[in-house]
Amino acid sequence: MLYGLMTEEINHSYEGGLYADLVRNRTFHSDPDKPVHWSAVVGSGARASIAIDKSTGPSEALPISLKLTIEQADDSHRAGVQNEGFWGIAVRPNTTYKGSFYAKGGSEQVGPLTVSLINDYTGETAASATVQTSGTEWKQYTYELKTGAVETSSANHLVFTAGHPGTLWLDLVTLFPPTYDNRPNGDRIDLMQKMAAMHPAFLRFPGGNYLEGDYINERFEWKKTIGPLVDRPGHPSPWRYWSTDGMGLLEFLDWCEELHMQPLLAVYAGYSLRGEHVEPGPALQPYIDDALEEIEYVTGGADTKWGAVRARDGHPKPFSLSYVEIGNEDWFDKSGSYDGRFAQFYDAIKQKYPQLQLIATTPVKSRKPDVIDDHFYRRADQFFSDTHHYDNTSRSGPKIFVGEWATREGSPTPNFNAALGDAAWMTGMERNSDIVIMASYAPLLVNVDPGAMQWQTDLIGFNALTSYGSPSYYAQVMFAQHLGDELIAAKLEGGGPRLFYSVTRNSQSGVMDLKIVNASATPQSLDIDLQGASSVGSTAKLTTLSATTPRDTNTITEPTKIVPVESTIQASGTHLNHTFAPYSISVVEVPAK
Ligand code: AHR
Repeated sequence: MLYGLMTEEINHSYEGGLYADLVRNRTFHSDPDKPVHWSAVVGSGARASIAIDKSTGPSEALPISLKLTIEQADDSHRAGVQNEGFWGIAVRPNTTYKGSFYAKGGSEQVGPLTVSLINDYTGETAASATVQTSGTEWKQYTYELKTGAVETSSANHLVFTAGHPGTLWLDLVTLFPPTYDNRPNGDRIDLMQKMAAMHPAFLRFPGGNYLEGDYINERFEWKKTIGPLVDRPGHPSPWRYWSTDGMGLLEFLDWCEELHMQPLLAVYAGYSLRGEHVEPGPALQPYIDDALEEIEYVTGGADTKWGAVRARDGHPKPFSLSYVEIGNEDWFDKSGSYDGRFAQFYDAIKQKYPQLQLIATTPVKSRKPDVIDDHFYRRADQFFSDTHHYDNTSRSGPKIFVGEWATREGSPTPNFNAALGDAAWMTGMERNSDIVIMASYAPLLVNVDPGAMQWQTDLIGFNALTSYGSPSYYAQVMFAQHLGDELIAAKLEGGGPRLFYSVTRNSQSGVMDLKIVNASATPQSLDIDLQGASSVGSTAKLTTLSATTPRDTNTITEPTKIVPVESTIQASGTHLNHTFAPYSISVVEVPAK
């Protein structure tokens, strides 16, 4: 299970990204005073205004709403409100979009609402529906928008109009395109497919900094992220934008299930990014209870308290869980409280769930963690010179989880030099995978629209309409697709500088996967001598990712400039000869016994 995914709400990974809802600022928390990303719709002969109303909302969790006041309108001069989406709204032909909203009317009702998807430039309506709202109490309404033979485009907005003066309050406005596996409240299909191609074994969630929050009261409070959307208050994320928590604990677990990944659950451990911490002892106990309940929500039968809540939320079957991480990057906690906090979490979790493997985020003395989470954000040169990092690590200490790592060269997504640094580093992790048991690149996703990114160099880029894999993404796909379950003893003799390798073998199929990274500017001719093999198939499959210069890259407009290319190499007995191109990452699949 070496290769997995690390995820958190950063770079609009979920809001305006993987979480498929197309409506931006759907609960009006993005700005305390203004309904940003919304605007009034007033044609000639109509008058209307919008404002945030802090006195009414559809639930305790969502106490504020949008007030639409229509002063003048009739059927031919309609007025209303529109949402711009996350840098546009993607509309495709012959597609059904499903939406909902909460609304309540004033004493004078605005009448039926028309909901439409409208092209920003042409003003043409891509799809439209009528919703009959009524009454002065909050109610939920649903609608469907079906497009016909429209052009695929992200230059669209969502419009609600009425033909009668009056007042209408709106909240929790959603609009979902078809989602992966058709799951309601689900995920964007293209991004899920890209992740599926990485064959990830696990998902580390919910962070990262996003787990901790800037302050204790801005942490990822899992109990506020489950159940009906109307009961989720949302919270500010440390990456400076509001999270509706539509992507809540159960949605993370659904994501795991859909991509056949093990959940690797990080629990909040009493430290937040601006330095607030909870002292070990009685003050920490509520956080420990919360973590135990979270584990029960994930793993408990429907006959347990929190397992029953999960069943109520639509997932009676427990999820299987093996790894729990206590906190995130607790080396930042200069109070020195992590040792004590870790011990208290460790004892309580091990007592109730002895089978769980517990991950510490920095070395501790109080207990022996099962696993330590190491993070590496580096330049390619640093990875090139450190591929033996774990060669001499004690085999009797904790196992290693490289929970965040990346070569940070290129923005918004890595360039080919970064892919070379990543691939070199992966050969080192593979050669040490008796102790390095899991690794996950970070960050995983970035919305490449202006202003969406908080962290440069992210694996997969996307906008409202489309997505692309960086060269580093394809390096990961190649490595994860070709991962045996045995390490083969191998050595490299001669060869130029910046040549890196690892060899694994699949014990079932007998296929050996040789990974060769040539990070130099010169071709490297290698004689591969499979000394231990009794028989070698005559044809080996070669998959190569290469670039003309290390700065080459993929972008949203040139998404497939660098992609893996397949060919073959002929073996002669137990020998294979091949010249590995400059700036190339190669996997050679050899059927060998
Ligand atoms: O991956 C981006 C951030 O880097 C993570 O949130 C944090 O854990 C690390 O510092």
